[in-house]
Amino acid sequence: MRIEPQIDGVVARSAHPYGCEAAIKQQIEYVKRAPQITQGPKRVLILGASSGFGLAARIALTFGGAKADTIGVSFERGPSEKGTGSAGWYNNIFFKAQAQKEGRTAINIVGDAFAQETREQVIEAIETYFDGEVDLIIYSLATGMRPIPGKPGEFWRSVIKPYGQPITGASLDLQHDRWIETTLEPASDEEAEHTIKVMGGEDWQSWVDALINTESIAEGCKTIAFSYIGPEVTHPIYLDGTLGRAKIDLHQTSHALNLEMANFNGSAYATVCKALVTKASVFIPALSPYLLALYKVMKAEQCHETCIEQMQRLFSTKLYGQAKVDVDGERLIRIDELELAPHIQQKVNALLSEMNGDNFKQLGDYEGYKDEFLKLNGFGFESVDYTQEIDLADLKKLRP
Ligand code: NAI
Repeated sequence: MRIEPQIDGVVARSAHPYGCEAAIKQQIEYVKRAPQITQGPKRVLILGASSGFGLAARIALTFGGAKADTIGVSFERGPSEKGTGSAGWYNNIFFKAQAQKEGRTAINIVGDAFAQETREQVIEAIETYFDGEVDLIIYSLATGMRPIPGKPGEFWRSVIKPYGQPITGASLDLQHDRWIETTLEPASDEEAEHTIKVMGGEDWQSWVDALINTESIAEGCKTIAFSYIGPEVTHPIYLDGTLGRAKIDLHQTSHALNLEMANFNGSAYATVCKALVTKASVFIPALSPYLLALYKVMKAEQCHETCIEQMQRLFSTKLYGQAKVDVDGERLIRIDELELAPHIQQKVNALLSEMNGDNFKQLGDYEGYKDEFLKLNGFGFESVDYTQEIDLADLKKLRP
């Protein structure tokens, strides 16, 4: 069969395995050429390792100077009669193949990070492959639901909604290249609380506590989780909305964890990243026009970064190799400073004030936005022959 892109609104229903492989190789080439990570960690656990920031962090730490061994946890689907499998499934497979080629250990654990069974598997893998300890824990899960402990079959579900007031904004339908005006009603208190349960700091804390309890934390171990703040124009849907509340909870958790990690001469940080197209972010209504304008301006100013550039810069200039970790007044690591630079935001605002459903493809970088989305799923790489026939049985033989 030939694998073609199948998009359903903002959800990719197909992924091209060899395109995913090409994406991994491209990111590896980038970090090999980039300024290297010095004094980096050797044994890294990444929760949410198969795409977006978690995958980029894994690639940067393995190939960008630190030569780290990694255990990656993710929730992905393999090929079956129902479909080709998810991009993250193939990212795990091809990342591991490349890492092993360079003599690095790369263990993939595919399962629900909220499940006790997955925790046990991770702790066993740390025992087996890392001499029982980790030097860095990266928490990079992005998900819409979390099982409620002790209540089988029940879930907290996160919502992406404003708080207090309704807001109107546009979403992009990537399937039909359409701009869709939407009004979002404010979240109820319960929805806001559930979003904090899913995307706030509680699960990060419980992972770190589980690793402390099993004595899996090495001397000097660090832990990070990713956050977003963004400029004022995005605050109604993000910072002041349900997701922002969850991120504030995550920031507070970073301070509590920092105290716990101090017992091991370690530390914990929330790391504020740039807004980017990922499998998760395309779901955020009313954020898309901002992303179109941001991409257009940052590319024109030659300071656009994707996940891989962000992660390599994080580890080589902020978290490792310096006498002190570089944080702001609220003890947050900021790698969103290029996005938030006043001259960038001025231009972004000027574009946004004119952008609408008729001109978003011209004024904004719609082409770049969609290209990045397709590439996340392995489509659009020149090095890949998309006319090649692929046998599902061969794909099933590839194991993470
Ligand atoms: P992503 O969707 O690309 O990656 C999410 C990862 O979590 C995948 O590896 C997925 O398999 C894994 N995952 C999801 N549910 C899981 C489960 N139950 N068990 C195990 N693994 C699971 O997302 P992205 O965008 O890289 O997000 C990661 C973090 O970065 C999130 O906290 C997000 O809020 C934050 N962030 C994202 C920004 C963006 O613009 N994309 C900007 C700033 C922060």
